[in-house]
Amino acid sequence: MLKLTHLARPTPTLARVLAVAALASAFAAAATLVLTPEAPSRRVAIRVDCVDPAACAHAQATALDVWSEELGPGLPLDVVVRATDLEDLTTAGVAFTVLDPDIDAAARAEAERLRQPKAAGQDWFAEYRDYEAISTHLVELAEGAPDRASLKGIGASLDGRTLWALRIHAEGASESDQSTPMLITGTQHAREWIAAMVSTCVADRLVREYQDNEAIRRFVDTTELWVVPVVNPDGYQYSWGQDRYWRKNRRGGHGVDLNRNFSVAWGGTGSSPLKRSQVYRGDRPFSENESVALRSLAKDEGIELHIDFHAFGQLVLYPWNHSDQPTKDQARYAALGDRVASAIYGAHGTPYRLMRGVELYSAAGTLSDWMYGEAGAVSFTIELRPRGGNGFVLPPDQIRPTCDEGLAAVLALRAPR
Ligand code: ARG
Ligand code: ZN
Repeated sequence: MLKLTHLARPTPTLARVLAVAALASAFAAAATLVLTPEAPSRRVAIRVDCVDPAACAHAQATALDVWSEELGPGLPLDVVVRATDLEDLTTAGVAFTVLDPDIDAAARAEAERLRQPKAAGQDWFAEYRDYEAISTHLVELAEGAPDRASLKGIGASLDGRTLWALRIHAEGASESDQSTPMLITGTQHAREWIAAMVSTCVADRLVREYQDNEAIRRFVDTTELWVVPVVNPDGYQYSWGQDRYWRKNRRGGHGVDLNRNFSVAWGGTGSSPLKRSQVYRGDRPFSENESVALRSLAKDEGIELHIDFHAFGQLVLYPWNHSDQPTKDQARYAALGDRVASAIYGAHGTPYRLMRGVELYSAAGTLSDWMYGEAGAVSFTIELRPRGGNGFVLPPDQIRPTCDEGLAAVLALRAPR
């Protein structure tokens, strides 16, 4: 387009201008496909109807990324592809609908919104916050309620960011008290911003509403809670500044999928030995600072209950995530999970489906399978809002209601068994 305005300049006769304009629009039509600077890399989210398995395999081979949380023969598949691959998919007979014609435009609009100055007195949870802001918020929470909350660095990322854990406990209680140790983790995956906000918001409400909310007081008085809202701060900041859709940590520039780096079933189906893969597991279990820090915290504190927040899909998942074998605790998980999913539904009537993780697809080396299989905790993975579409870029007015759902899940898991 820049070149065309330049071309139009020399002789401004009407005929000439019209001729150039006609040429320009024809050229522009072609140019949007191949020549404009953003076109070659425009990324489109599509839903492939997988009735024909060959078509689906073709789409998967073309995909830059897979977004659907439920994978299986015959199920629709949500993937990200380059705009330039769409024609080829059509020619190959792949039936699809467009979920988001330009996922980077959605991210740019979000970034633009985040640059707007915040209204004074605005609810802190009315907008997404980066690692610095979340860290400051955690400091303020601990300072504001020193009897009930304290902040501990449990490690550091490769780029030197502190991995913060907020400890919330009964007023004046020492760590040796008869409270059930529980852990909440969020944002193993960088682009799942709602998980960082919900983890922080749940911590915030447990600390601040202690006096006025009966259910919260009962919970805090009987629970030794640790909240790590941003497990993966390097990846998180990279998703704020560089690539909104970044998932892994930043190891070597390629990154490791932290949720494939734990030692239970490490290396199995649903993880990859390839550095460029979205599910790269690292070169050995616990190769990453972030997974090591969580292992130490879980072991040192004897964690018995755990929720790992992710996005998106509205799902409550329990072990195993890597194996078809039902665990010996299947019945208990099903009952507890039902209670959690029902409590979530009770908040805003949002359905979250309950199932074993492996029923969606196999994921080996996950935090949740390690927390259960190795640390002996009852562990759930919760995929927060939304249900589908471009679910990583979630409108900020969804933070509060999604937090209500996260808090309902946390309280329900703790309720006496
Ligand atoms: N989205 C999470 C991940 O990829 C979920 C892990 C558990 N889910 C599963 N289907 N096994 O790490
Ligand atoms: Zn995730």
